[in-house]
Amino acid sequence: MNPEKWGAVDNYIAGLLLPSDPVLEAALRRSEEAGLPAIAVSPSQGKMLHLLARMQRARRILEIGTLGGYSAIWLARALPSGGRLVTLELEPRHAEVARENLDRAGLGGMVDLRVGPALAGLARLAGEKAGLFDLVFIDADKANIPAYFSQSLKLCQPGAIIIVDNVVRQGALINPADPNPSVQGVRRFHEMLATEPGVSATTIQTVGSKGWDGFTLALVIGET
Ligand code: SAH
Ligand code: DHB
Ligand code: MG
Repeated sequence: MNPEKWGAVDNYIAGLLLPSDPVLEAALRRSEEAGLPAIAVSPSQGKMLHLLARMQRARRILEIGTLGGYSAIWLARALPSGGRLVTLELEPRHAEVARENLDRAGLGGMVDLRVGPALAGLARLAGEKAGLFDLVFIDADKANIPAYFSQSLKLCQPGAIIIVDNVVRQGALINPADPNPSVQGVRRFHEMLATEPGVSATTIQTVGSKGWDGFTLALVIGET
């Protein structure tokens, strides 16, 4: 284990492949000034989300867990004109900062930021019949990942992808005795994936500036 080196490699990658971006940097700075936790995706993870959304030619994206809008900016920038990002956030203060950051990024018009518990937001979306999503990014409280995933699945069209952040948790994923509700959440999520016929999924472990963690990538196959 060499976490300093993981961070140094992330910096190397960012130095070459992620040119300085005043809008994203301002979003992080404003989030920090507002006292939000520094738990946004890393720059290279943000760009990966952006690239996945473009590969997917996503027109409707759902994000669960907005924080200050950093990953939302990456995702919304991948949308074509007329595209839409719906992002769900529990904390009014986080949502306020995100709204400012998204507006300053010139993306406010394509982002539907909804404040409240994500489970309620998902139930409301299911009732709206506003069209299915072609990409979902799940990055809120980890204990609820299984519920977020099964609700998201119902809101996805076939061919959609679902990305779930922070599912490896420094390896705690494999410890059945870990009482942490986040660990129980990611474990139940993997057990659910193992028997869910509607998706094909894998989990990739990652190291970098955010330590040792990982994400799940799931492809929605058919009718759900
Ligand atoms: N996706 C963001 C980081 C999200 S951090 C980024 O990469 O930039 C997790 C966020 O989920 C926090 O803002 C937290 O307030 C929010 N959250 C926690 N519990 C929630 C819930 N029940 N419903 C909606 N959002 C929740
Ligand atoms: C936490 C949440 C995240 O989404 C993340 O990427 C890292 C940490 C947290 O709640 O601690
Ligand atoms: Mg995360």
